[in-house]
Amino acid sequence: MITLSPSILSADFANLGAHCRTVLDAGAGMLHFDVMDGHFVPNISFGVPVLASLHKALPDAFYDVHLMISDPVTYAPAFARAGASCITFRVEPVQDVPAVIRAIRDCGVQAGISLKPGTPVESVFPLLPLVDMVLVMSVEPGFGGQAFQPAAVERIAALRDACRAQGVNPHISVDGGINAETGALCAAAGADVLVAGSTVFSAADPAAAVAALCAL
Ligand code: DX5
Ligand code: ZN
Repeated sequence: MITLSPSILSADFANLGAHCRTVLDAGAGMLHFDVMDGHFVPNISFGVPVLASLHKALPDAFYDVHLMISDPVTYAPAFARAGASCITFRVEPVQDVPAVIRAIRDCGVQAGISLKPGTPVESVFPLLPLVDMVLVMSVEPGFGGQAFQPAAVERIAALRDACRAQGVNPHISVDGGINAETGALCAAAGADVLVAGSTVFSAADPAAAVAALCAL
């Protein structure tokens, strides 16, 4: 069963609430909320006040918050208060990943970890019992609309095998360049959450794009 998490990075921000309502009504199970600080990645997106406004307008949505910021521990409580359901952070620069996972859980929300395309998947195998979500980046983080990196497919399969071997079942999510074709490959490899930005919000009919991806 695939859960679609449309990335609002590609939405029309002048009509954000309406666009989010459209994709949720069309079957999206989550809203993917990309937070970038212009330091950790070379781009700036949006932050806590935008999430708080969306959450006020659409309180029942699941907010899949993807932090691409230098200091996830300092800002996690504010995102949790603003309505985050799951907060995902990048493992690469973090010294004590279990401590960050605990800090996020202490905010009363789910915790996820993300891996850049060059990070060996084996490095997170010991963390699989600790998290609710593993997000496999299939592009370099920072921008929507990039081409899918096919190596993500075998990385997802390796993670799913490791989860089975350990008897754990976190969501395996994939983010970057997802469309009907690449999404189908990732789903077959074991991803159960597909993040899609431009494929959904740049489509002539976003609701139809959501329905097509949810059917994979
Ligand atoms: C990139 C973000 C993605 C981005 C995906 O750093 O994490 O969530 O919005 O956009 P598409 O689906 O257009 O590749
Ligand atoms: Zn993302």
